Amino acid sequence: MGEVIAIASQKGGVGKTTTSVNLGASLASLGHRTLLVDIDPQGSVASSFGFTRYDIKAGILDVFLDALPIEEAVHPTGVENFDFIPTNLWSDENERRKLIGVASKIKLKDELAGIREMYDFILIDCPPSLGNLTFNALIAADSLIVPIQCEYYALKALGRFLKLTRIIKNENNPNLRYRGFLLTMVDLRTNLTRIVIEKIRYTLQGMVFKTMIPRNIKLAEVPYHGQPVLSFDRNCKGATSYYELAREIVGENGNFVPVADDNQEVKVI
Ligand SMILES: Nc1ncnc2c1ncn2[C@@H]1O[C@H](COP(=O)(O)OP(=O)(O)OP(=O)(O)O)[C@@H](O)[C@H]1O
Ligand SMILES: [Mg+2]
Repeated sequence: MGEVIAIASQKGGVGKTTTSVNLGASLASLGHRTLLVDIDPQGSVASSFGFTRYDIKAGILDVFLDALPIEEAVHPTGVENFDFIPTNLWSDENERRKLIGVASKIKLKDELAGIREMYDFILIDCPPSLGNLTFNALIAADSLIVPIQCEYYALKALGRFLKLTRIIKNENNPNLRYRGFLLTMVDLRTNLTRIVIEKIRYTLQGMVFKTMIPRNIKLAEVPYHGQPVLSFDRNCKGATSYYELAREIVGENGNFVPVADDNQEVKVI
């Protein structure tokens, strides 16, 4: 049965979608059947595979509204072993958003239960907020990947997010674990980046992936090509680091860290 991994952080622009698309393609290229579910109303996953909103006939909204069985919202990405469910929660359609706002918090978990056997990994690309959609993802998930952009205040926003994961673990999802925190957009040419990395690794001891994702222009070109980076430049730094991350996840060192209980707070400094 597939492992459900939510890629989440309430901070915007830290690399959640880039990680979902390119880690997904790397897991698929290692032979793992992978599904990526986009629950972010921004809909960036679809553009990463060359789809416009007009190409999408069914998506996660239909699943949330019980209008379609989840299987019918699955689209091929164009990469072997890799499917996706696009969002069609367009942000300008307030009525739809309201409906999602009142959806049950276990809706996504229940729906994914029906297709988990078809995949080895199900990745969920979360929106940059702590609303009902993110709750749904954290309750559906077995584990979490939290991208952190390497900047000085990176850890500041993390406190609230760690607290939310603890609440979800205690109230709704006792087995929730971290797969790891992922350092993204790393530019090792600056001293500041090195200091920030040290601080993050010290604070989140043992919970940060060894693999770091460098700042790499090819990763930003994914929506332009409408393909994961592995499909148009497999040797660039961006592609090789997401491939390394996939190997770290499926390899012997792909450890899990339980979400801390209330009395085992991760100190964010
Ligand atoms: N390693 C990288 N190198 C260069 N550009 C990157 C890298 N990772 C992400 N980007 C670019 O940074 C921007 C933000 O990335 P992305 O959309 O993946 O973040 P996000 O966390 O999903 O954002 P949001 O919170 O809005 O959903 C995008 O323009 C993306 O192309
Ligand atoms: Mg995103």
